[in-house]
Amino acid sequence: MVWKNDQVSELETKKIIEVAKGQLNAHGDFVELGCYKGDTSLLLAEILRDSNKKLWIYDSFEGLPKKSMEDASVMGENFRGGELFATKREVKERFLRAGLPVPVIKKAWFSELKDEDLPEKIAFAFLDGDFYDSIRVSLRLVENKMCSGGKIIIHDYDNEALPGVKKAVDEWLLEKSIKKEVYQSMLVTAL
Ligand SMILES: C[S@@+](CC[C@H](N)C(=O)[O-])C[C@H]1O[C@@H](n2cnc3c(N)ncnc32)[C@H](O)[C@@H]1O
Repeated sequence: MVWKNDQVSELETKKIIEVAKGQLNAHGDFVELGCYKGDTSLLLAEILRDSNKKLWIYDSFEGLPKKSMEDASVMGENFRGGELFATKREVKERFLRAGLPVPVIKKAWFSELKDEDLPEKIAFAFLDGDFYDSIRVSLRLVENKMCSGGKIIIHDYDNEALPGVKKAVDEWLLEKSIKKEVYQSMLVTAL
């Protein structure tokens, strides 16, 4: 099963499926920070269809925030504040149309999220906030909730148009000794 995904390449999609499926027996739920229209969320919901895990997805539903200095790139000029706007309602309707369980959908800037807005334990996290601050905050939100053996995929880690992603991840990795693999533009980490 490979859903059409406008945001993630086909190879990356296959990798997400492989990693997420591998987490079905791990302790905790699945989360996606930065869901946009829900392409990857639908994929994750399909993977979770017969499991007792929940999917939790997060977005400003106001599009991207403003860039910081760390995000400056001539190749990424099309990524601007307000781009990638989707509504919570359209995402919810896509799940209903697909006959998939509607996930927990939270509308917030990541910096406004509290500990209790995320599941107690996380088995799989997909972080796709595009910018330095968004990824930095996402990592902080999930890091202490990951189960032993939990997996985090950070999209656009190796993407010259979005240099803030790599910067935020590399700063975070400095404090950690964890297994990691770069796959296409993504960083796959195992805790
Ligand atoms: C590239 S899109 C996500 C694509 C989605 N993961 C997929 O695979 O279809 C990035 C999303 O992150 C959201 N986003 C980025 N930074 C954010 C932040 N700091 N707080 C809330 N949402 C944010 C944007 O609104 C946008 O919808």
